[in-house]
Amino acid sequence: MFDRITITTPAGIADYAIILTDTFDELAQAIRETGLRPDRIGLVADTNTAPIYSAAVMEVLFDICDSVTLLTVRAGEAHKTTETINSLYERMAEAHFTRKSLLVSLGGGVVGDMTGFAAATYMRGIPFVQIPTTLLSQVDASIGGKTGVDFQGYKNMIGAFHMPSLVYINIRTLRTLPAREIRSGMAEIIKAALIKDRDFYDWQKKNQPAIRAAEPAVMASMIGRACRIKQAVVENDPYEAGERKLLNYGHTIGHAIEKACHFRLTHGECVGLGMLLVNEITCRRGTLTRLEADDIQGVLKSFDLPVRPVDIDVASVIANTRSDKKREKNTIDFVVLNTIGQASISRDITEEDMRAVLESFC
Ligand code: GLY
Repeated sequence: MFDRITITTPAGIADYAIILTDTFDELAQAIRETGLRPDRIGLVADTNTAPIYSAAVMEVLFDICDSVTLLTVRAGEAHKTTETINSLYERMAEAHFTRKSLLVSLGGGVVGDMTGFAAATYMRGIPFVQIPTTLLSQVDASIGGKTGVDFQGYKNMIGAFHMPSLVYINIRTLRTLPAREIRSGMAEIIKAALIKDRDFYDWQKKNQPAIRAAEPAVMASMIGRACRIKQAVVENDPYEAGERKLLNYGHTIGHAIEKACHFRLTHGECVGLGMLLVNEITCRRGTLTRLEADDIQGVLKSFDLPVRPVDIDVASVIANTRSDKKREKNTIDFVVLNTIGQASISRDITEEDMRAVLESFC
């Protein structure tokens, strides 16, 4: 094991561990340590991940429970829907899942969010364990209990906060992850450093060749640092009343681009673009220096993330921001950087500000 981080939760909810390792061998023991004694386990994996890892994980799960069912879902954001949740409920009911049953998510953020939501709602809530297999889900989506599905094309419109009982990260799963998905995760890791930790941002620049080469020790150290940033934020503000909103840096315009391009770009690619666009707005206002904005653009580029939105309809992007969950009354909560390593919320960015930078960038 490389690292173990304990997330302290609000009163009445069990604290949970993030285990960072490079094997599935420690999973059974890690689940036993949660105190859970499930009568049935449902392993939820998508059609990409199930053929690669489900057999190895099921073998370990049979060590702690006689009844383990593989619940496969179709891969991709397009299937992050209430229909998929219905099909999970159906299969759980058919297999006689009870309130003592456990769901285990094996996959990226889409699978983790759906598994968590099914767990949050089946029989008014059963426990679940996250085994994130993508870089993005390892450092962000699996931690902090946000669960849910998209609705009518809007990201995560339906959901619930439901804390996992364990987050188990096996960094070996990154070996089979396409390069584009690694880049997508890098955008969230760069984001975490930009809002909270300048030293970590400098570390990423210095270690860029080793990160690009996916050197295991460097990846483990980077994932651990990113998880600790997320830990600090979700411990201070588990239900996003304040500080947790900072994690949405780059996400308001990013989500709007994601929808406008019909998910042609990955989440991380859109978050990277969202960060650059909001940086440009703040640069023009003089609250972020051009030097820092250019430096950030250089870092995103060095990890092969796009720095210009291509073939994006500006009007659709702006329209999409209107239904963003971060919108309150007529203003949108925009996370802006004051400087590298420090962010805050701005409520006075207008559609005209967005249109101006989108038109000059697109
Ligand atoms: N992914 C953002 C959050 O967990 O709040």
